[in-house]
Amino acid sequence: MTDLEFMERALLLARRGLGKVSPNPAVGAVLVKQGRIVGEGFHQYQGLKHAEVLACEQAGDAAAAGAALYLNLEPCAHQGRTGPCCDYLIARKIARVVAAMQDPHPLVSGRGFQRLREAGVQVDVGLLEKEAGVLNEGFSKFVTSGDPFATLKSALSLDGKIAGPRVQSREFFSGPESAARTEGLRLQADAICVGAGTVLADDPLLTYRGPEPRRRPLVRIVLDPHGRIAPDRRMFADPSPIWWVRPALHGALPPHVSLMQPGQGNAATWKAVLKRMAFEGMYHLLIEGGGETNAAALQAGIVDKILLIYAPRLIGGRATTGVIGGAGFDPAIPVTEVTVTRVGADFWIEGYLR
Ligand SMILES: NC(=O)c1ccc[n+]([C@@H]2O[C@H](COP(=O)([O-])OP(=O)(O)OC[C@H]3O[C@@H](n4cnc5c(N)ncnc54)[C@H](OP(=O)(O)O)[C@@H]3O)[C@@H](O)[C@H]2O)c1
Repeated sequence: MTDLEFMERALLLARRGLGKVSPNPAVGAVLVKQGRIVGEGFHQYQGLKHAEVLACEQAGDAAAAGAALYLNLEPCAHQGRTGPCCDYLIARKIARVVAAMQDPHPLVSGRGFQRLREAGVQVDVGLLEKEAGVLNEGFSKFVTSGDPFATLKSALSLDGKIAGPRVQSREFFSGPESAARTEGLRLQADAICVGAGTVLADDPLLTYRGPEPRRRPLVRIVLDPHGRIAPDRRMFADPSPIWWVRPALHGALPPHVSLMQPGQGNAATWKAVLKRMAFEGMYHLLIEGGGETNAAALQAGIVDKILLIYAPRLIGGRATTGVIGGAGFDPAIPVTEVTVTRVGADFWIEGYLR
């Protein structure tokens, strides 16, 4: 196997931590001695141990000595919930560390590599750096800015509509392959957010229903500043947490529902939501519209990434809901690093707003 294949394996392992690691990064580690994998691990938050420690423990001290360690993220150099991994690796006599990227955490950012090099460990950085960056983009933004990362995701027709002329189910838009992949997005997210219009029109559950277990339940955030939603909607019957952004309400609420005061205006409301997420150590928000909510999020400047899932259908209609409502943007918002992926019959278009 090559360096590239070992790093691909480390990234694959890291992905197994999604849904479990936040507010930590997803990290996978592959320990290789004489071309053979002798240990592997991925970080899971619970159980504390970092991926590199798990890989070395699996190998044992004798096999770890002189081995090469492949990691998608720089080993930590600070005392957090665990001791510094770079010191641990030096003590295990690791000969080479191949890392995809530097840890953006201000307490690490290069110090781990430096410490390893000073101890005589060969350090190579940058293999599959882009893929590694995307995997931990929520973590990276959070530790460098303090703000959660927001992905705006929508399923739409080729002509940009997110709802038909009559109330229709969401399955109408994207195919089963897209639906399965969408659960992966929900797994990666800490919270999902919709506007009152969507709850009124679709009565969605907004739960995570994928096969991989989560460490913490997906928090469902509903923007309902005028209290238009009644608590008989389906989402309230499910016990996973709801942050209901609405004016004060008299009477007891079930324990999984907590009220949040809307801010003075669109941006202030988003700010309050993001602030609470950050306070609770949640770094990835998935915004699933509808059109007015999408526009409000873009207007407030909180969207980092867009994901538009185009299904091969045309809906048309002057009055049907488009993916981005509001008053429109002039100048238009540039989208960079755009990629297109075919998923079943659908087209996934992703890009960044930065
Ligand atoms: N295809 C898809 O992927 C998809 C996904 C979601 C929804 N949809 C469709 O979209 C349609 C609903 O879209 P919509 O544009 O009518 O409604 P919406 O975006 O779901 O909800 C809009 C409402 O949410 C509240 N809101 C949103 N952002 C806010 C903010 N920052 N601060 C305060 N309040 C905020 C406001 O409530 P108030 O008006 O009470 O102030 C606003 O009018 C439905 O037909 C649904 O099927 C499709």
